[in-house]
Amino acid sequence: MAEPRRIALMPGDGIGQEVMAAAAEVLQALDKQTPLGLTWDWLEWPSTDWHRRHGEMMPADAMTQVQAYDALLMGALGDPGPLSDANRYCLPDSVSLSPLLQFRKGLGLWACERPARLLPGAPQYLADERAAEVDMLVIRENSEGEYVNQGGRLHRGTADEVATQLEVFTRRATERLIRHAFVRARERLEARGADARHFHCADKGRAGAQVCLITKRNAQPYWGDMYTEVFAEIAAEFPEIGVHHELVDAACMKFVQCPWTFDVVVASNLHGDILTDLAAVLSGGLGLAPSCNINPDSRAMPALFEPTHGSAPDIAGQGLANPAAMLLTTALMLDWVGCAQAAERLRQAVAKDLATTAGQRRTCRDVTAGVIAALH
Ligand code: IPM
Ligand code: MN
Repeated sequence: MAEPRRIALMPGDGIGQEVMAAAAEVLQALDKQTPLGLTWDWLEWPSTDWHRRHGEMMPADAMTQVQAYDALLMGALGDPGPLSDANRYCLPDSVSLSPLLQFRKGLGLWACERPARLLPGAPQYLADERAAEVDMLVIRENSEGEYVNQGGRLHRGTADEVATQLEVFTRRATERLIRHAFVRARERLEARGADARHFHCADKGRAGAQVCLITKRNAQPYWGDMYTEVFAEIAAEFPEIGVHHELVDAACMKFVQCPWTFDVVVASNLHGDILTDLAAVLSGGLGLAPSCNINPDSRAMPALFEPTHGSAPDIAGQGLANPAAMLLTTALMLDWVGCAQAAERLRQAVAKDLATTAGQRRTCRDVTAGVIAALH
């Protein structure tokens, strides 16, 4: 028998605690139906509470400890909430959120995938009925770009202050990211069949799948042009996939105006960050938006699975968080560790629960129970 795959459950802060409890319950229910071949440990770090007790977000050897796992499932980091708690222990974002960036960079998780599909029953914020067809996958560069954290401040606090924030784009990271976007587009095309959907494409009129490249090459030509050139080179390897290019500002407009015309979207770290909050709303809100950080080329390091949402201190501790994003994130994790059938069962259960309870106000508990019932 194969070794069980090891999962670290990291609830983190705020609503992370509540949605992780939901994920663990659902994992248990899935495992009872058909053994998943997984073992999972609860980790108290990274978290603001760990910081309160130990003076740091996670142990000094955390990056080594996590390597014992195949996947890290994380709730949320940041303000521990609830806001009503006057004694809550608050940290600057640069401290409380740093483990996220440490994991992404330190474990080589260079692709962040954020699927945005509007499930029936989910809130549809756009009036145009075609917005019900939103089904895109935003792939965000996760290792460099605007997030390299290099720069500094000179003459701090004076009228002469200068702040610099360096952006770094390498051909290596650009090529692997864009190639991965085309691979995903091909998989999506195979899954839905060539005739199922058509996208407008700059090069071939219409195609059954598309990759849209996002840049701001009109104002930031150095990396924008390199991305554009690499995109053209790699597109040539995927003749069946249509290509498209949008400047990030125009992409924001079109995400609202005609989001159903997007399929796979590939963007830099910061552009991807911004576009995926927008894409989350197109798929029903942050309560429904899954996310994962992976190295598509290697399983040597654990991948990190965390919903797009944060710790939501405004509703933390009240049982009001929607665990659906966490559950859909758990499904992505199950796919990653080789439990594709369980992942699909979970996705269908979340979809069924949503479709049968549309418009109702529900607690974290209600959704968890509904999804578990839908598994059976
Ligand atoms: C996200 C978050 C993070 C990011 C923050 C918390 C650093 O917004 O995962 O989208 O910007 O990547
Ligand atoms: Mn974000």
